[in-house]
This record gives sequence, structure tokens and C-alpha cells, in this order.
Amino acid sequence: MEPISLTNNKQTEADKAKQKEIRQAGPLPEHIAVIMDGNGRWAKKKGNIRVFGHKAGVESVRDITESCAQLGVGHLTLFAFSTENWGRPSAEINALIKLLMSTLRKEADNLDKNNIRLTAIGQLDRFPLECRELLQQVIDRTRDNDRMDLCLALSYSGRWDIAEATKIIGHRIKKGEIEPDEVNKEMIAANMSTAGNPDPDLVIRTSGEFRISNFFLWQLAYTELYITETFWPDFRRDELYNAIISFQNRDRRYGKIDNHSQTQSRVPSNEVVSHINS
Ligand code: FPP
Repeated sequence: MEPISLTNNKQTEADKAKQKEIRQAGPLPEHIAVIMDGNGRWAKKKGNIRVFGHKAGVESVRDITESCAQLGVGHLTLFAFSTENWGRPSAEINALIKLLMSTLRKEADNLDKNNIRLTAIGQLDRFPLECRELLQQVIDRTRDNDRMDLCLALSYSGRWDIAEATKIIGHRIKKGEIEPDEVNKEMIAANMSTAGNPDPDLVIRTSGEFRISNFFLWQLAYTELYITETFWPDFRRDELYNAIISFQNRDRRYGKIDNHSQTQSRVPSNEVVSHINS
């Protein structure tokens, strides 16, 4: 496979070896989602304005996209702009839109050359036409790429996504296409903006906040969480590797009990039953 290069840094031998070690240690998350937080605080700490932090955050976006693609992660979703972010001062919103557009212009070639498919989810019609058109151009251009899906959640919120799916299903019921009792979790998932993609296996949140902030509310049902104090502009591949290693050491039971504890239990199962019955 062709080497990946979004950062213009030649991959070091040590980094290649680290990625190999991670791939051999256990299954990779098929889908990683990231709540990129702390840009403003990072800038403030440096005595600078918030936009400075957003600009620095783009470097982390490059490094994390590149390292995920190199590792072989299939899907990376970045929560880049929430529905609630529209409530920020217009100067910051405009700066974020400009930054998104300049990044799209700069990275379109690189994404395409590296076989990365760009997609976007959210209320995209809230963005200015020029921004939407540019985004659509990059999405169309990279449509057939299949090394990794890079999804930008833009003007996205989990509650919006659930409400939209509910509306679609409601219309189908009204038209008589389905009965209310036929609604099930598969039908809801199939009408969310993420339809057809696996739910995230791992969600990373930077800047030490222990909340989901209206991100993937439906999709995170069984996702492993990795929360770090690091502000997004300082979050680079070494910490991504720590997050993946942490994921590989989790015991994902999906509400069941794992085979290991069943077979290793020192209490015979008949004793467990008699204990319950007593
Ligand atoms: C959260 O930090 C970050 C954002 C609202 C924007 C994220 C945007 C980028 C990383 C740059 C552009 C992205 C792309 C994909 C080109 P915050 O502002 O909430 O920080 P704070 O919590 O410290 O105030």
C-alpha cells in the first residue's frame, strides 16, 4: 500500500514499528470518533485569541487523520462543529467557517491522493452556500476512495439526528408504508445520518470534560470512551496510540458476561444457583 502523507512529515521508522506493534496487539477500532475540545483554552493558556487554538487544531486533525489511515482504521469521525456552536460570537463562527474552507481547499488533493473518502453529516444547509459547494466538491471528488472514511460532523447534534430519523419514519407511517409496531432499532439506525456505517468502537474526548455534549447519542450505546486532559491542539498520534492500546485492553461485554469469567469462575455453577434459590 502507498505510504500516507497528509502532514508532509516522512514517517519515522520508530513510528512504523509502533503502528505495527499496535496492529499485532489486538483488533483495531474499526471506527474512531473524536470530540475535539479545548482549542479555546489552549489558546488562552498561550495568551492568544481562541481562533489561534482552532488553527493549531487543524494540525492535530492532519496528524490524527494520517496516523489513523496508516494504521488501517476504517472510519474516523471528527466532531468539528456542533449545533450549539452556532450560539458562539459571529466572529468566531466566521473564523471557523473560513478555517474549514481553507483546510478543505488545501487538503482536497492530499485526501484524494491518499485514497481517503470525505463525508459530512449534520445540518449542512445552515452553512453559507460557498462553504457547502466547496464541501460537496471534495465529497464528490473523493467519493470512490476506499482506504479510510473521514467524516466531518458539522452543525451536528445527536438529538437533531434522532429527531430527523423520527420524522422520516413518521412520514412513512403516515403514508401507510409501515405500521407503528414495525419500528425497531434497525429501522431507526437506517434512518440516521450515519446509516450504513459501523457505530464507533472508540470515542476520544480531549480537554478532560466527562460528557458527550450532544454528539452521537444513538451511536455510542456500546462505544468505549477515552477521555484525556490534553487540549485538542496538543493531541497527536502518540496519545492516539495510547487511546487505542487502552481500547484493546477493554473487556467489551455488551451487557453480557464474558466467556473468560464464566470458564474461570471458581464457584461451580450449581452452587451459584443454590445460592440464588436459598
Ligand atoms: C472545540 O474547542 C473545538 C471546536 C468547536 C472546533 C473544532 C475545529 C477545529 C479543530 C478546526 C477545524 C476543523 C476542521 C475539520 C478543518 P473549543 O473552542 O470548544 O475550546 P474550549 O472548550 O477550550 O473553549
